Amino acid sequence: MPETTIAQASFDSIRTMHETTIQPDVTQFTPEIETLTAPIYERVRHVIPEVEWAVHAPLIAAINDLKRQRNAVILAHNYQTPEIFYGVADVCGDSLGLAQKGAATDADVIVLCGVHFMAETAKIMSPDKTVLLPDMEAGCSLAASITGADVRRLKAQYPGVPVVTYVNTTAEVRAEADICCTSANALKIVESLGTDRVIFIPDEYLGQYVAEQTDVEVILWKGSCEVHERFTGAELREYRKSFPGIHLMAHPECPQDVLKEADFVGSTTGMIQHVDKERPDKVVLITECSISDNVAVEFPDVEFIRPCNLCPYMKSITLPLILKSLQTLSPAIEIPQDVSVRARKSLEKMLAAGRG
Ligand code: 13P
Ligand code: SF4
Repeated sequence: MPETTIAQASFDSIRTMHETTIQPDVTQFTPEIETLTAPIYERVRHVIPEVEWAVHAPLIAAINDLKRQRNAVILAHNYQTPEIFYGVADVCGDSLGLAQKGAATDADVIVLCGVHFMAETAKIMSPDKTVLLPDMEAGCSLAASITGADVRRLKAQYPGVPVVTYVNTTAEVRAEADICCTSANALKIVESLGTDRVIFIPDEYLGQYVAEQTDVEVILWKGSCEVHERFTGAELREYRKSFPGIHLMAHPECPQDVLKEADFVGSTTGMIQHVDKERPDKVVLITECSISDNVAVEFPDVEFIRPCNLCPYMKSITLPLILKSLQTLSPAIEIPQDVSVRARKSLEKMLAAGRG
C-alpha cells in the first residue's frame, strides 16, 4: 500500500492537459470531469459502481482543485471510504502515521479524514498548521470511555504506577498519562517502562492482549471499540468452515476469543503489510469494513471476504463535508496549549521508545 495515493499525480497531469478551471461548487458529472477523474476511477472501478462515481467525481475534482489553492494536505485513515482514500487523500495510513507525515509536509492546512482524536494528534504534532476535521461529531467509543479526571483518579488509586494510554484517547487524557502507545507497539511500550505494574487505558481488549504476553501486571480500564467488540470467535470459526484455507486477520481491539481464532493479529498497517507479505488467496480482515475495499484495490489477486462492521464515526466524513471544510476552513481543531504540550510529551516518549 503506497503512503501517497496516485490521486493528486493523476489529477495534476490530466488537469494540465485540459487546462480546466474547476469551481468548488461544481456538482455536475460533465464529460470534462469524467475525463479528468478517469485515471482515479480506473483504480477503484471494482469497488465503486459507475453510478456512484458520477456523484463522487465532481466533488473529487472540486476538492483536489481547492486543496491546491489552500496549500492543504488531506490525510485519510485506513477506514475511510475508497472515494476519499483514493480520490482525494495525499497520505493514507494509521492515525499516528498520518499525524507524522502531515507534520512533515509544508502544507498550511491539514484536512483530517478520520475521527476527532486523530485530528487532535495531528494538531499536537503540527501546532502551527490549521487542522480541519470535516465533522466535529466524528468521535470514538474508546476515546469517549475515559476523561482526564478518570486518569487523575486512577493515579491517586495506584500511586507511582505509570499510565500507558492508547492513542485512541482525547488530548486531555494523553496529557494526564505518562506515555502513549499504538495497537502496534502496546506490548513494547508496557515493557519499556521497567516497572512490575502499569495502568493501561482505555481499551480493555488491547490491554488483555498485552497482559497475556508479558509478566508486567496490567491494570485495565473498561473501554472498548464499538466496532471491534461486535466480532465473535464463533463468527471466525464459521468463516473457516465456509471458506477452507482462508487467512483470518484480526485487529487487537477485538475480544480475546476472536484473537485466539485469528491467524494474524495486528494494527491496520500491520494487516496491510501482512497481506502484502503473505499474499493469501482468500482473506478476511476482522476490523472496519472500508479497509477491505481499500486493500482490495492494491491486491486484485487476493479475494477479500468482507464482514461488515461499520464505524459510524469514520463514516460521518464525506466528500461534501470535506469540500465544505476546505471552502470555509472550518471546523478547526483547537487544543489548550498546556494540554497540547503535555500530550505531546506522552507521544514523544512513545516515539523515543520506538514506533513499531
Ligand atoms: P490503527 O489504524 O492504529 O490500527 O487503529 C484502528 C482504529 O480503530 C482506529 O480507529
Ligand atoms: Fe473508535 Fe472503533 Fe471507530 Fe476506531 S473503529 S474510531 S476505535 S469506534
